[in-house]
Amino acid sequence: MPVSIRAIQDGFAGEVTGVRCAEPLSSEDIAAIEAGMDQYAVLVFRDQPLTDQQQMAFSRQFGEFESYNTPGHIRKKEDARLSSGIADFSNLDKSGKIMSDQDRVWFFKLGDMLWHSDSSFRPIPAKYSLLSGRIIPSWGANTEFADMRAAYDALDDRTRAEVEDLVCEHSLLFSREMIGFTEMSPEERAAFRPVRQRLVRTHPVSGRKSLFLSAHAGSILGWTVPEARMFLRDLTEFATQDRFVYRHVWRVHDLVIWDNRTTMHRARRFDKTEVRDVRRTTLAGDVMTIDQEA
Ligand SMILES: [Fe+2]
Repeated sequence: MPVSIRAIQDGFAGEVTGVRCAEPLSSEDIAAIEAGMDQYAVLVFRDQPLTDQQQMAFSRQFGEFESYNTPGHIRKKEDARLSSGIADFSNLDKSGKIMSDQDRVWFFKLGDMLWHSDSSFRPIPAKYSLLSGRIIPSWGANTEFADMRAAYDALDDRTRAEVEDLVCEHSLLFSREMIGFTEMSPEERAAFRPVRQRLVRTHPVSGRKSLFLSAHAGSILGWTVPEARMFLRDLTEFATQDRFVYRHVWRVHDLVIWDNRTTMHRARRFDKTEVRDVRRTTLAGDVMTIDQEA
């Protein structure tokens, strides 16, 4: 059966059929999925039971993994529940029990409920994230996606001109500070040193411009911090209106892929006494959005 993609919303988010993600894809299928990503930015694959190995093999058909030697991984290696190559976004600790809500890892997870783009705090931000739903709680836990291309297109002329050449600084410190989580070690503070990102990006294939917003953005070069934070908050509020948002309601064995270059997303609340086991593979981007200054 050939790959087929049905638009879930007008121009944003598509549902893919005709693919078994556990098996190797033909080059035609890969091309069709990549074209779907360029068009819809978020793709949903239903009923795709995957082992970690299969998820990694599927992901690798679309690019290189983001390096695990770069900072930003919160769980210490010795506390890892899963083997390397796959990121654990569950609420489980190493022993497989629901983690304490006093756990620092839980505090970091809470920050994922802010609108963000994965790895925007790295000099080369991520391309695709692929999230596989293994255990889904009975209530809540949706993932919401916002189309930063449509948001850019909808800006008024004055704002569009204003954002064109702006450069932001992004850091995990900024997004965690936003929820009052400021207890970082000196090593973490050094590792999470802010990086620069352009506020407007151009997609390498479609040529469409988009707003590169993220909760990790905490300043704008040449602006005072209060002015920058208010502007970024305003832009984020504008860009995450209902008309730009797709809400994904998870089923077990869903696989969702999103393009971090053109979307933001956020996790939603769930009953923390229930298990949520979702696992992510992340593909590296190709380029910095702007040169980093030493
Ligand atoms: Fe994320």
